[in-house]
Amino acid sequence: MALDPEALARALQPLEKAATLPASAYTSPAVYAAETERIFSHAWLCAGRVEQIPNAGDWMTLDLLDDKLVVVRGADDRVRVLSRVCRHRGAELCEGRGNTRSFQCPYHAWTYGLDGRLVGAPLMDGAADFDRTRFGLPELRSEVWEGWIFVSFDADAAPLGPQLAPLERLLARYRLEERVALEPLVFESPFNWKLLVDNFMEAYHHIAIHRDTLQPLFPADRSHAPDADGPYSVLIMPGKERDAEPLVAAVVYPFHLFAPGGEMLSWYQLLPTRHDHFTLRIHCCFAREAVEDPAQAAKLEALRELVRTVHEQDIAACQATWAGLNARSYRAGRLGPLEKPLWQFNRWWIERMTG
Ligand code: FES
Repeated sequence: MALDPEALARALQPLEKAATLPASAYTSPAVYAAETERIFSHAWLCAGRVEQIPNAGDWMTLDLLDDKLVVVRGADDRVRVLSRVCRHRGAELCEGRGNTRSFQCPYHAWTYGLDGRLVGAPLMDGAADFDRTRFGLPELRSEVWEGWIFVSFDADAAPLGPQLAPLERLLARYRLEERVALEPLVFESPFNWKLLVDNFMEAYHHIAIHRDTLQPLFPADRSHAPDADGPYSVLIMPGKERDAEPLVAAVVYPFHLFAPGGEMLSWYQLLPTRHDHFTLRIHCCFAREAVEDPAQAAKLEALRELVRTVHEQDIAACQATWAGLNARSYRAGRLGPLEKPLWQFNRWWIERMTG
């Protein structure tokens, strides 16, 4: 793998001395392949929110890494994450979202229940020893945390909830589980996923890229990050006005990003596909009363537009960084004191990539 041990050792120094990750951590296809194997295949990854499938039979598809999944609420009200690849000859069963009592393959009409069981396979009576119970849709481990549905490809992954208990206590006042997501803003992002995690988790850049948007509200030099006792980092950004509510940014490793503050919860859903591309869905989430109140529609839309403007500024920063990291002359830099969450993340990332 294209990671220089000495460069990683410099990134592992105490924050006061720590270097950034080397360029290859971002730019190398081999490193991305190793991330897929060592991190993504074992971590908990966000698949959506429970309120996106509120009723029995509601489903939505999810392309996560190289897999095709469907997130579905069963007749028993349980949320499951299933493969949506037909167990006959592999056709994709569905695409998009909807409500159904069963999934029927468009190719030869094999039919699956909401729990993944194969309930119908026409004209298969002559197939010797064909046991339908062995041809259900595989179900992945899933867990709901604060309204988000997390999924893991690792059947032995340690439960997520206990690992996030300290974060849950820290954010209890924001009542994350009660928020409702609006239709997302979607961005195809032609750079490495970690650039957005880095960007999301420090307010240092407010002084330049966001000097007209976030810096007047949440000045960079007031931001700080508590020590973390689990697979997450938190950044607290106090407001310029003393009585203003702080904006908080959080990452559940590796890439579940969200930021509660004021009336809005911003949730950045990253869907990496290659070392140099991910799809980003930004969901602006609000209290249900606000979403269902027509009188508040214009205000919520204005907040959503502010998020779009801020992200367009962040895209410029990420693209400039992507160009620089791919340049021959690039050398790893130094982290500053306002970049503690990046340092925390880098240590977690290096441990998993090399451990
Ligand atoms: Fe699905 Fe044949 S591929 S029924």
